[in-house]
Amino acid sequence: MATILEQYIAQHPGSAQRYTEAVQTFPSGVTHDNRYAQPFPLYMTHGAGPRKWDVDGNEYIDYICGHGALLLGHSHPEIADAVAQQMYRGTHLGASTDEELRWARAIKALVPSIEKIRFHSSGTEATLMAMRLARAYTGKNKIIKLQDHFHGWHDYAMAGSDRPAPGVPAESWASMLVVPSGDLSAVEDALSRDQDVAGLILEPTGAHYGQLPFDTPNYLEGLRQLTSQHGAVLIFDEVVTGFRASAGGAQTRYGVTPDLTCFGKVIGGGMPVGAFGGREDIMSMWDPSDGGATVQHAGTFNGNPMTAAAGIATLETLTPDKYVYLEKLGNLLRSELRALFAELEVPMGVTGIASLFALQFTSEEVVDYRTYATNDMNMMKTMFIGLLNEGFLLSNRCAGNVSTVHTEDDVSAFVSAVKSVLRRAGYG
Ligand SMILES: Cc1ncc(COP(=O)(O)O)c(C=O)c1O
Repeated sequence: MATILEQYIAQHPGSAQRYTEAVQTFPSGVTHDNRYAQPFPLYMTHGAGPRKWDVDGNEYIDYICGHGALLLGHSHPEIADAVAQQMYRGTHLGASTDEELRWARAIKALVPSIEKIRFHSSGTEATLMAMRLARAYTGKNKIIKLQDHFHGWHDYAMAGSDRPAPGVPAESWASMLVVPSGDLSAVEDALSRDQDVAGLILEPTGAHYGQLPFDTPNYLEGLRQLTSQHGAVLIFDEVVTGFRASAGGAQTRYGVTPDLTCFGKVIGGGMPVGAFGGREDIMSMWDPSDGGATVQHAGTFNGNPMTAAAGIATLETLTPDKYVYLEKLGNLLRSELRALFAELEVPMGVTGIASLFALQFTSEEVVDYRTYATNDMNMMKTMFIGLLNEGFLLSNRCAGNVSTVHTEDDVSAFVSAVKSVLRRAGYG
């Protein structure tokens, strides 16, 4: 690790210098927990296609792609044009627009379970509002959440976190029932024991967008049956998997229909975004026209036309052939990595579907947080920093995604870089 770290420090003097300034201004030096990195994070200047450049002029093939928001890569010309044109028509009209209508129509055409929808500015808002709606619709209070599934950073979403969560009121966690992921009997128990369950929320490909997968579609079908039997609202958090696991998200890929769905990331084409939608009878809880009590939902930037323009351009560019390509490229990346791990006899694996992947630093099959905990975290950190030195960006958990503008050559280059980091770490 020492030499990999020394190389990192030597290659990135500009980032190191900026970080010393940043810690004077931001607590921990960064503005997003996951961007925190030791000895310092990298400072980027610009991105184009699958590539990004840092302040020291180093070039990277980017497998983070805007925390998963950029399915078409950086600075896609169609999106840039759409946003530029909208900027001159008005960045914020503070009113309903044709753009929000076109955007919603494009989403409804791809995701049949979306009868009604609302837009806002983040995935965190989507999960907050979907939980509130489930409570309002059922008149019950509790939400079942699966261990280690991530739904943003509001108080309820963080229930079951393995880290202390100062500032989160105990009452909000008391209304959350956290059960192990992938275990249908645990959900059945919770639903039978407690008559106050309004809904169940989960990431439909497993925790952290499938880094900890479960047995799909059987598990999802089981959840669909159990929640229906007990009158609980089934909420799919498709903030990552929406328009990524397939054109219609994980629900279309696995043929299981939730009552409500949360979206974010891809539908905003790189602009700030969130949305939730689903069954008309549930969504009508927002509708004041019959004079009844309504659930409240405001937001200065809800349905803003800049994001709508980027979102429409994204969804129109994502033709069916793009999904065939993404699936092929994701499969290639995963199979080449598996072949490499076998060749080097290194205790590693890879999880993920479609354009998503995560390196696993364990010989165990990762299916939940217990098996995930067998990962060698030192090796993960070595790989993360080692790949940065080689010019490849992953999340700090060594997860990533490919976009429509990554190529087979980019995949081969990535697999070679993983090999060279493993060799330097003493494997093969
Ligand atoms: C599955 C999932 N849900 C919700 C969120 C929260 O979205 P946002 O960061 O836009 O608030 C994320 C963010 O990464 C996510 O991965």
